[in-house]
Amino acid sequence: MTYFQKAILTGIPSELPQKQEYDCSINHAPKRKDLLTKEEKKLAIRNALRYFEPKHHAVLAKEFAQELHNYGRIYMYRFRPTYKMYARHIDEYPAKSKQAAAIMLMIQNNLDYAVAQHPHELITYGGNGAVFQNWAQYLLTMQYLAEMTDEQTLVMYSGHPLGLYPSHKNAPRVVVTNGMMIPNYSKPDDWEKFNALGVTQYGQMTAGSYMYIGPQGIVHGTTITVLNAGRKIGNDGLGGKLFVTAGLGGMSGAQPKASNIAGCVSITAEINPKATHTRHSQGWVDEVYSDLKELMSRVEKARTNKEVVSFAYQGNVVDLWEYLAANNIKVDLGSDQTSLHNPWAGGYYPAGLTFEQSNALMAENPSLFKEKVQESLRRQVDAINQLTQNGMYFFDYGNAFLLEASRAEAAVYKEVTSYELQVTNSSSIVNQKFRYPSYVQDIMGPMCFDYGFGPFRWVCTSGKSEDLDTSDRLAMEVLEKLAQNSPVEIQQQMRDNIQWIKGAKENRLVVGSQARILYADAQGRIKIASAFNRAIREGKISAPIVLGRDHHDVSGTDSPYRETSNIYDGSAFTADMAIQNVIGDSFRGATWVSIHNGGGVGWGEVINGGFGMLLDGSETADKNLEMMLFWDVNNGISRRSWARNEGAVFAIKRAMEQNPNLKVTLPNVVDEVVLEKL
Ligand SMILES: NC(=O)c1ccc[n+]([C@@H]2O[C@H](COP(=O)([O-])OP(=O)(O)OC[C@H]3O[C@@H](n4cnc5c(N)ncnc54)[C@H](O)[C@@H]3O)[C@@H](O)[C@H]2O)c1
Repeated sequence: MTYFQKAILTGIPSELPQKQEYDCSINHAPKRKDLLTKEEKKLAIRNALRYFEPKHHAVLAKEFAQELHNYGRIYMYRFRPTYKMYARHIDEYPAKSKQAAAIMLMIQNNLDYAVAQHPHELITYGGNGAVFQNWAQYLLTMQYLAEMTDEQTLVMYSGHPLGLYPSHKNAPRVVVTNGMMIPNYSKPDDWEKFNALGVTQYGQMTAGSYMYIGPQGIVHGTTITVLNAGRKIGNDGLGGKLFVTAGLGGMSGAQPKASNIAGCVSITAEINPKATHTRHSQGWVDEVYSDLKELMSRVEKARTNKEVVSFAYQGNVVDLWEYLAANNIKVDLGSDQTSLHNPWAGGYYPAGLTFEQSNALMAENPSLFKEKVQESLRRQVDAINQLTQNGMYFFDYGNAFLLEASRAEAAVYKEVTSYELQVTNSSSIVNQKFRYPSYVQDIMGPMCFDYGFGPFRWVCTSGKSEDLDTSDRLAMEVLEKLAQNSPVEIQQQMRDNIQWIKGAKENRLVVGSQARILYADAQGRIKIASAFNRAIREGKISAPIVLGRDHHDVSGTDSPYRETSNIYDGSAFTADMAIQNVIGDSFRGATWVSIHNGGGVGWGEVINGGFGMLLDGSETADKNLEMMLFWDVNNGISRRSWARNEGAVFAIKRAMEQNPNLKVTLPNVVDEVVLEKL
């Protein structure tokens, strides 16, 4: 048995491991807000000590009190494993259940130093997207997964493994909930408080559901978005056009890479030098500048020569936008991917302060920090408004930029004429007042989600690139075959995705596990998954494959300012779809399911769910994949169709033709004249 295997089976060690140095070379989570009273701090420590034998309590109580004081959270750093954190071959995991081994692999991938944003704080992306709250939860969960059989289900409450429960072979091996709150206790400060108490966590979307595959996951979605945003400003391609945005973090780090794939010139501002360095050293951004003048002369050269190149601006995005506006520089596409779902705790850094000054201020004087963030947002919006008047197409990138800017009283609303007001009242209740669309309203929603296209992904549990190559080839063959008979409504999507999968390998997108993503509809996902399962059965792929998806999908996420922002019947503020999705997946063969409060746009602003499914080549997997993927996509299309979205009505009628057991309630559309007469 290897050291790694022994350590997994040990779980929480009965003797205290050596204390470890706080490693300053690693990107750490910022100090969190200190909201707890003295009594609540005691409660947080009492809660943390539940994981340990009483003989250690005196030592650990002091240590945890210090962590709470220094970092605003108890991470239990001492218990961080000393083995290397990465996704191993599935057979290396000590496990009685292959499905459980696959989940262990995915957990380790989410915490891999090359993948995770703040690996020592168990944060995968988004500044607060946690896999676990502390290292005791990690150790205990891995031990449970190693011990469990296919007749048990592990229950996870916001990172805490509640325990193993008897179930059955076709039940999920793990059921995850993250951040589920009584609705009235779901404000950002509630997260600060209850997370500090150790009773809840922010799972983001794929972090707390073990389905993150590094920025590759988002490169594809971003490529599709940039390509289609480019189609909004003309059909002459993106050569020589300039895209300006911000963020080189977990997800946002994909922007320069995607812009290169889409074929434009891009500038991405990033305030954190470590984040810039990571993306630059990984080859995700081509050149780094901290001098705006120097950067702009390089940009002009690149545009003139129609170079495909990505630049990082090491500095504050507000300074970049103001420089562009002051110098009347033509920008074609604009967006922002700072973490504004988390504006007061490190998601957005105000102008005029260094990175370090901001980190200190947000902990020492949160209200002054908030003022500075809001002032910066107003300045940023003013500069953007000036540039859009000169022809820039700006879109909100699902990071709550317009939402937070509006809360900061930035000039993000447009004047609504009385005619527009009528339209607004009859067909669109929210969001139409913003000057700019969100990328879902204009692009992702009507072009992808309504037709069932969403971020399907897979991970080869052998860790072998040959297996990934085979899977790429199989996926491409499936799509090419389907494209021959695709209706005209989805042909552009099919073409973009065939193009993507053909170039996926040469784009060197793999960070961490051997994983791939592409956008496919229900039919595409099912056919690709069946081809994989067959290849595993026939030994053409050497080990099982994990299927999954981003929660940011057709059916996975209810989020009125993002995924469901192109739903205009008022139901954008309901969350039945995401909940139904996870319940439905769980009894149709998912290997694990998860449901979260709080994804990309913030705690209390979104409910999102997802699944993982292990394809092991078996006939059961064949049946499960067909049954579950069909539901997993068509649930959302049905809901979008009921909201009168034309693409979705088309797609669900097509699905009913393909499967006679599907019978969906279709909407009748009222003639506006009838309403006008009221
Ligand atoms: N559109 C999508 O599909 C999509 C997908 C994922 C995430 N998002 C959203 O985008 C946001 C970013 O996600 P992430 O995972 O990259 O988060 P992240 O926190 O890892 O990265 C954000 C980066 O922005 C930088 N930043 C913050 N303020 C800045 C400023 N004023 N100037 C320059 N840089 C600044 C931070 O240093 C950080 O590196 C989140 O809100 C997320 O929910 C959108």
